[in-house]
Amino acid sequence: MNTTSVLTGVVDAVLDRSLIGYTKLGSGIRRLWWPADPPARALAGKRVVVTGATAGIGEAMATSFARLGATVHLLGRNPDKVRQSAGVVRREAPGSVVIDEICDIGDLAAVRAWTDDLSGRVDALAGLVHNAGAMPRERTETPQGHETQLACHVLGPHLITERLLPLLNAAKGSSVVFMSSGGMYSAPLRVDDIESTGGDYDGVRVYARTKRMQVVLAEAWADRLAGTDVRVESMHPGWVETPGVADALPTFRTITRPLLRDAADGADTAVWLVATRPESRPHHFWHDRAQRPTTFGWQRGQDPAAVSLFLGQITAMTDTANVWSGSAN
Ligand SMILES: NC(=O)c1ccc[n+]([C@@H]2O[C@H](COP(=O)([O-])OP(=O)(O)OC[C@H]3O[C@@H](n4cnc5c(N)ncnc54)[C@H](OP(=O)(O)O)[C@@H]3O)[C@@H](O)[C@H]2O)c1
Repeated sequence: MNTTSVLTGVVDAVLDRSLIGYTKLGSGIRRLWWPADPPARALAGKRVVVTGATAGIGEAMATSFARLGATVHLLGRNPDKVRQSAGVVRREAPGSVVIDEICDIGDLAAVRAWTDDLSGRVDALAGLVHNAGAMPRERTETPQGHETQLACHVLGPHLITERLLPLLNAAKGSSVVFMSSGGMYSAPLRVDDIESTGGDYDGVRVYARTKRMQVVLAEAWADRLAGTDVRVESMHPGWVETPGVADALPTFRTITRPLLRDAADGADTAVWLVATRPESRPHHFWHDRAQRPTTFGWQRGQDPAAVSLFLGQITAMTDTANVWSGSAN
């Protein structure tokens, strides 16, 4: 390791631990040394699905993928918003192919119907980004009776990954990315009440917990698919100016607004992961084109027994096979 890389490593770690790294200053500084952009047209001839692409980070991500030549399957639950965002992407990336995909990913019956439909229409998928997210203030349930954030952040993405695996394998080189949040650092994996049925529902706390679950789930998938052509990663985008932040965290937005990243900046690492497929070490958690810890010292990693219990719970809830390697920790 030379002096420059030691120095950039120290600056990077300070940015991360001080949270300055989450702001646009973080990406602005790291851009000086982070890995190269994907080549122009890196995704020409390839298909990418982006969930939650009718706003914020997802819409910007769809645009970035389209600019790299991908056929973008732009997924949302509201047909009007999907049509509108597809129009935005086509305008921003002239000549691009954008396909409207309608699915409420928290509704497991809708996920089954949509994945069946997509599997009948396309042969292979080079990218799948689980970007859709929500932070409701009150506890709500999906048609199957699951707590909404659990369903939207964990159960739906898991079921989609499972059912689109043949398409991901067929691409002979594909990536799945779970868009988590730095908020997950505040929440250890808890398996005692994953449906958040206790009477003290706190949307922000449940958000952090389900974002932690995404990181654990992505690692389990990465371990399960090790040695195949499908890579699975999770990441956080930093603090990004989006409709979701304005709606769910208005005070946070007011205080941090001058420092918030724009949506394309928030989308950057997901696009880079799919377009370049970098080598990935255990834990598979990224931010600003570099791997990051999933826990800090005092958290002492994930409890393997809790991870195993969690994976058992979500496979049962989604009626999928419980075939994990048990090494995600
Ligand atoms: N912005 C940040 O600072 C930040 C920080 C950390 C992590 N993240 C993560 O980044 C992702 C994108 O965040 P954002 O700030 O861009 O959010 P946003 O502005 O609220 O956009 C969220 C998108 O997800 C869609 N969505 C929500 N529930 C869905 C469902 N059940 N089925 C299908 N689509 C659904 C929304 O569609 P509707 O319009 O129909 O609701 C919308 O298109 C989220 O996973 C979020 O947790 C964001």
